[in-house]
Amino acid sequence: MAYRETATVISKDKIAGDVYDIWFETEKIAQEAVPGQFVLVYSKDKARLLPRPISVCLTEGNKLRLVFRAVGEGTKEFSEFETGDKVEIQGPVGHGYDLSNKKKALIFGGGIGIPPMLNLAKELDCEKQIVLGYRDELFLNEEFEKYGQVYIATEDGSCGTKGNVLNAVDELGLDADVLYACGPMPMLRAIKNYAIAHDKEAYISLEEKMACGMGACLSCVCKSKEVDGHSKVKNKRVCTEGPVFDAREVEI
Ligand SMILES: Cc1cc2nc3c(=O)[nH]c(=O)nc-3n(C[C@H](O)[C@H](O)[C@H](O)COP(=O)(O)OP(=O)(O)OC[C@H]3O[C@@H](n4cnc5c(N)ncnc54)[C@H](O)[C@@H]3O)c2cc1C
Ligand code: FES
Repeated sequence: MAYRETATVISKDKIAGDVYDIWFETEKIAQEAVPGQFVLVYSKDKARLLPRPISVCLTEGNKLRLVFRAVGEGTKEFSEFETGDKVEIQGPVGHGYDLSNKKKALIFGGGIGIPPMLNLAKELDCEKQIVLGYRDELFLNEEFEKYGQVYIATEDGSCGTKGNVLNAVDELGLDADVLYACGPMPMLRAIKNYAIAHDKEAYISLEEKMACGMGACLSCVCKSKEVDGHSKVKNKRVCTEGPVFDAREVEI
């Protein structure tokens, strides 16, 4: 169930180039959220009616942590929040990760897809290896070390494997039974193909552009293998049926 609340900003830090880390105090959202879910953050500027979807990075009691990159007007406004500010937030939204897996896991995060994987790494109770892919500047990597062995890939080769997360898997000979991933589409596509080629289970989190965020407008659909019960075509709404999908369920 999603709640609309007025949350209070507890702290804000800039943790890399244009990447911001904000903790909010919420009434119910933080306590209800599970890894892989997201929230809808509303702008104070009424010219921007549509809320912006941001993944839950971490929760602690009634505290909610969001880590995001300032890319446009909405996220730029969020990056200017100050301690004590009141912010309208709706959530938790979407279908998160299944935490019942006890098999050996490989968790992949790429770029601004890294934050939601921190919550998954924390809550997933199994042997975990974590592979984080960055363009250059690192963030959150030290926090992941609390939850598993961490491997880094950077596009410029400034840290860890030079290349992407699957280059790190090859170079280091990493292996697992189940793969989890959030990141840019080319990375998710490569992980889906890798999972099929190596006969692994894989769960991926998609970040399609959204409008209502509540399943009504169909602006966030992705192509699916099976016919959807709601739209009667081979579509899935990322905001409600996702953002986490079995990689084999979706055409990406
Ligand atoms: C389920 C979900 C979870 C997300 N979680 C996070 C997160 O944890 N951290 C984070 O930094 N971002 C996350 N995003 C992306 C975030 O929602 C967008 O960056 C944000 O909506 C952009 O709003 P804006 O007003 O700043 O930019 P706009 O002015 O709306 O757009 C600026 C640029 O961002 C691009 N953009 C807009 N929406 C998206 C989107 N949904 N995905 C990718 N690019 C987009 C636009 O094409 C444009 O180039 C998530 C998106 C979804 C759908
Ligand atoms: S954003 Fe409206 S249905 Fe998903």
